Amino acid sequence: MKIVETKSELRREIKKYKKDSKTIGFVPTMGFLHEGHLKLIEEAKKENHIVVLSIFVNPLQFGPTEDFDSYPRDRERDEQLALEAGVDLIFTPHVNEMYPVIPSYTVNVSDRVDVLCGKSREGHFNGVATVLTKLFNLINPDKAYFGMKDAQQVAVIEGLISEFHFPLKIVPVATIREEDGLAKSSRNVYLNDVEREEAPMLYKSLLSAANAIKDGEKDVNSIKEKVSQILTNETTGKIDYVEVLSYPELKEISVISGKIIIALAVKFTNARLIDNITLEV
Ligand code: PAJ
Repeated sequence: MKIVETKSELRREIKKYKKDSKTIGFVPTMGFLHEGHLKLIEEAKKENHIVVLSIFVNPLQFGPTEDFDSYPRDRERDEQLALEAGVDLIFTPHVNEMYPVIPSYTVNVSDRVDVLCGKSREGHFNGVATVLTKLFNLINPDKAYFGMKDAQQVAVIEGLISEFHFPLKIVPVATIREEDGLAKSSRNVYLNDVEREEAPMLYKSLLSAANAIKDGEKDVNSIKEKVSQILTNETTGKIDYVEVLSYPELKEISVISGKIIIALAVKFTNARLIDNITLEV
């Protein structure tokens, strides 16, 4: 496994792969790897000759009051896990390798960002789209792997790929969970003991909504109320949002039909957690 920190080293390696007609699967991450990330790597390994992993905590996608500085980082552990998972190349640039002091060009996303995390984290998806545009240009992958844990990110990046004509395919990967249902997340380490015990209720509330839908519930407001009630009664967290939307368009609906997403975000003391399920009715 090779580890490179500069664009020129990265380009040199990519050029070699391309010259040998190797297909490249790309897994973009912010590091502090867990089984969710490892699942993306596993899928990428199955479908490509080469797996490139990026580890970069992207300042552009964090708001001024968000957790950029305290975002968990553990480079040595990440490198060990990546090695064991069979990654071929890690790109782990410093911030000044990716951005000048004040970036003059950023990607502005205007579709699918007035809801969910786009609404509560202003500018977040501009930051995500900007860094991925740069990474796609540097790595030129055949496929890029994204987790459905961040379903809005998948939808937005599908749009980016399509509008900017990136010659690559997005592969969505199902959310990996702890045994008790909590979606794996780098931010779970910031839950205190009580919050960690409550956190599986996020997924449980989604499952109970899905069950109600299976039993014939069609009213979006009742579903949202059901989920909110569980979160309020069973956790000490503060609800950021509970939404039911069409997927992948992310448009508001009042009656449940077609492909939908039920998504939520809850703020605990030091961690804001998100989760979702998509289903077809
Ligand atoms: P990060 O939060 O590190 O996540 C990297 C990838 O892992 C994302 O595609 C995310 O959806 C996926 N992932 C996280 N938890 C998962 C889980 N429990 N199961 C399955 N997949 C999971 O998302 C980002 O980084 C950044 O926004 C990035 C795309 C790297 C751009 O900076």
